[in-house]
Amino acid sequence: MAFFRRSSRQHATRPSGGSLAPRAPLPFVIGHRGAAGHAPENTLASIRAAAQLGCTWVELDVRPTADGRPVLMHDADLDRTTGRPGVVESTPFGVVVHREALRTGPSREAQPERIPSLEAALQLIGILGLGVNLELKPAAGRTALLAPTVIESVNRQLEGAPGRVLISSSDRLELAAARAVAPDLPLAALHRELAPDWRREVDDLGLCALGLDDEHLQLRQLDQLRKTCPELGLMVFTVNTAHRAASLARRGVTAIFSDIPDVLLPPSQQASRAG
Ligand code: G3P
Ligand code: MG
Repeated sequence: MAFFRRSSRQHATRPSGGSLAPRAPLPFVIGHRGAAGHAPENTLASIRAAAQLGCTWVELDVRPTADGRPVLMHDADLDRTTGRPGVVESTPFGVVVHREALRTGPSREAQPERIPSLEAALQLIGILGLGVNLELKPAAGRTALLAPTVIESVNRQLEGAPGRVLISSSDRLELAAARAVAPDLPLAALHRELAPDWRREVDDLGLCALGLDDEHLQLRQLDQLRKTCPELGLMVFTVNTAHRAASLARRGVTAIFSDIPDVLLPPSQQASRAG
């Protein structure tokens, strides 16, 4: 049986604050794009680096190729991360996964890393026993098609690992599509700037968390969110200083995404590094 099951029934309206929403047990520090400060972002090397640094969860960006197969890629274009031109959504899967990621971070001298398929990434996540936040970045004009494909992959690769997957997106249609096929799946909406109707979104989609951009974050809003919806997870991206992390923790933030999680992880977790 699929872990996040498909359902034809409509998602029931949930009480305010997402108190009955499917939840994910998030740690305070989540590796951003794997551990983007240590290895090429959104690659298998980056996922391994995050695990070695002591992360228990990683965030990964997922995009569809021309044939609708998901790969790990942040940008719509291949240029920045592979050094060669191309648009992910117009390039066949077979071509994208043969592209090498540009070497970055301390792993610069290591073996070349290719752009991974979502399936390969989830396989590794399963082997490493990590939790994963998959951020859905749909192709323009093809929104709501990515979520069902991603959830099929999750069910195939991570079945039997409940509480280890969170799906997020800034695209509400993609989140609604995820909710339609998987009533039990923890979901989060991402906001560069908090939308005025966030509360309705939380209730309608059964969200367990909101992801907020630190660049636009107003502490007043944070306090209001915390007060209005004490059970709602609040995640902030991208936080790369211990000082900012500590200040957000004091404000009741649930989780932060960091490129350099080793700097922010509590010493007890750093000590448990593998390898
Ligand atoms: O999911 C949090 C964060 O990754 C969102 O921003 O642009 O880094 O994908 P971005
Ligand atoms: Mg992301």
